[in-house]
Amino acid sequence: MNQSEKPYVPHTIAIDGPVASGKTTVGLLLAKELGYICLDTGIMYRAVAQKVLDLGISPIDEVAVTQVAQVTDIDVREPSVQDGRQFDVLIDGADRTWDIRTREVNACVSEVSVFPGVRDAMTLQQRRIAERSPIVMLGRDIGTVVLPNADLKIFLKASAMVRAKRRYEEERALGRDVRLEDVLELLLHRDNIDSNRQLAPLKPAKDAFIINTDDLDAQGVVETILAIIEDKQTLR
Ligand code: DC
Repeated sequence: MNQSEKPYVPHTIAIDGPVASGKTTVGLLLAKELGYICLDTGIMYRAVAQKVLDLGISPIDEVAVTQVAQVTDIDVREPSVQDGRQFDVLIDGADRTWDIRTREVNACVSEVSVFPGVRDAMTLQQRRIAERSPIVMLGRDIGTVVLPNADLKIFLKASAMVRAKRRYEEERALGRDVRLEDVLELLLHRDNIDSNRQLAPLKPAKDAFIINTDDLDAQGVVETILAIIEDKQTLR
């Protein structure tokens, strides 16, 4: 069989995008559809931020934060409890699934994510996980840095207001008393840090398919991605 007759099956799928662009919902649905595992790498940076808060370390203390990233045991597993969670997140063996979604973590996770030592520690773990089985990996720098040879790269984008409204609805559903303007402000702040950091900034890989999710629900995005896969199969 020559190369052109091989069916196109992407074993590593990178999905990048900004805060609340729909990566997690889309990634989980897509992984289920394909029978792949799904790793949301934002969880790992959140776990580092949580541990930094636990230890009372300043999120801008590069040396201390990097050390935390290097020694913290982060485990992401299938959900063991039906309480709306998409994964179980264990930090040093303890279930911290909901803790990493708090306002305090949201407020400092982008700051701790800029440090090269933190990124190196996370990237190493992410690459190891990707070697184990077919995977949909979600983040900011998966297609550009973590898995530059990913078989398929998707970049999700949506306007800031659409994303803020999505995040606002999620927070309200969790019973949190938040204001849309505050959610929007924090989202723009995090976009700014994530997109302008020197190392591995948020940006589409040159060979990524860019999907605008403003007018699409998660299932619509998954169908768009499956159509891209099908098109690539037909083109071979
Ligand atoms: O996707 P999220 O909002 O859970 O990600 C939290 C933060 O983690 C995000 O603001 C920046 C950082 N992050 C990163 O720097 N690189 C990734 N691959 C994933 C997340």
